[in-house]
Amino acid sequence: MDHSLNKRGAYAPRSPKADFPMAAPTPKSHASSATPGPPRRNVLAALLAGGLGALAGVLTVVPGINVLVRPLLKEKQAASKKIRVALLAAIPPDGVARSFPVIDERVDQWSRYPGEKIGSVYLVRDSVEAPPRCFSATCPHLGCAVEYKPQQGEFRCPCHTSAFAQDGRVLSGPSPRPLDTLEVEVRGDQVWVDYQKFRSVLAEKIPE
Ligand code: FES
Repeated sequence: MDHSLNKRGAYAPRSPKADFPMAAPTPKSHASSATPGPPRRNVLAALLAGGLGALAGVLTVVPGINVLVRPLLKEKQAASKKIRVALLAAIPPDGVARSFPVIDERVDQWSRYPGEKIGSVYLVRDSVEAPPRCFSATCPHLGCAVEYKPQQGEFRCPCHTSAFAQDGRVLSGPSPRPLDTLEVEVRGDQVWVDYQKFRSVLAEKIPE
């Protein structure tokens, strides 16, 4: 057992309570502290509360900024535009869909970006005599890029597993409409497509 000096200078056993610093400090012990101020725990709590408050403020403001700035960043896209996408010779008349990038000038509120990929299309030629058919590679459900699976003869969307037949019909999945078809024009040995984007989710084919 621990001992301490009493008022008369004699050693006396200490109370067990004195061994536990968790006991509430007396007003006297505060008054004798060399550095007055809030306990460290309170400072940390205040800093933590302040940090959480700032974070909450940022999370509240950022979506608002996004809503304001997004229309400015949104690309200016013509409703439709004829764009040269391939040479006719690059589309064999075998009924197999082939993917081609759509290259054009991309324009936003501040700048022009010439020669940028703005989308993709699939071109299919069923015979030498028939003009190519064209499908947008953008899934009508939520805008993912569909992939052509030659083994199955189907287009499939990797995002939510919509599947489309060779003619664009929906075979399965959540897509609300068939693949969007685009007009094709053959000029000499070149294939031009009337390229445009359509709104997602809707059953009707409505240009963006
Ligand atoms: S985006 Fe294609 S199925 Fe959802």
